[in-house]
Amino acid sequence: MPELTLIDTHAHLDSTDYNEDRAAVIARTFAAGIGVITVGVDLPSSEAALKLAQRHRFIWAGVGVHPHEAKTFNNEVNEALRKLASDPKVVAIGEIGLDYYRDLSPRKVQRDVLAEQIELANQVDLPVIIHNRESTKDMLAILRAHRPRRGVIHSFLGDLDLAREFMDLGLYLGIGGPLTFKKNDILRDAVTRIPLERILLETDCPYLTPIPYRGKRNEPAYVCYVAEEIARLKGITSEQVARLTTENARGLFNI
Ligand code: NI
Repeated sequence: MPELTLIDTHAHLDSTDYNEDRAAVIARTFAAGIGVITVGVDLPSSEAALKLAQRHRFIWAGVGVHPHEAKTFNNEVNEALRKLASDPKVVAIGEIGLDYYRDLSPRKVQRDVLAEQIELANQVDLPVIIHNRESTKDMLAILRAHRPRRGVIHSFLGDLDLAREFMDLGLYLGIGGPLTFKKNDILRDAVTRIPLERILLETDCPYLTPIPYRGKRNEPAYVCYVAEEIARLKGITSEQVARLTTENARGLFNI
């Protein structure tokens, strides 16, 4: 494996979309010098994420319950996540958050489960990986009340003002494939102005595939297209984007 040059800070490598060729996807990722943080969305997928991380030197895991699955969270799940979090390959509590777009768990349940998992992250001293969709007002209220020590807003899609609100809370912004989508001028404008010191690269694969592969299954190797777009917007080289965002990821996740 060549030197690690990029880190995809948000992937779902345990997804059934990779059941046919997961080993080949991972081999392509490593051949490109890319490390991966693969995140769980419930307890079984968190366990699967950790297994992948334990088997591969350049994969690390996030463990947590996604807002879609918030109704599966209870004290036993919380304790199981705490136990998983003691493994050195677990580097974050996530993917956790709020999703008022799909509303697959009741909103009150989503809020309570998010708050509990932020508390868990603070207790075990890990960063949080936050999903936020059409829930920004409640998200900001919960972040201000429960104050994660550090973390990232995954798949940030907002404008510069919202970016500043999250940065003021000490959080990083995860930028992925949507940066390359035609309609997202407001996001491109924000990313142009957000300091690179606060940006992490991600794919959210198998979802949110960047141009030029939009419409196909996403994979960590495509994180380079996000780096290239950030470089174009900021008028710097993609090597500079890769170097600094990799430093950011190493610092935040302590890897
Ligand atoms: Ni995700």
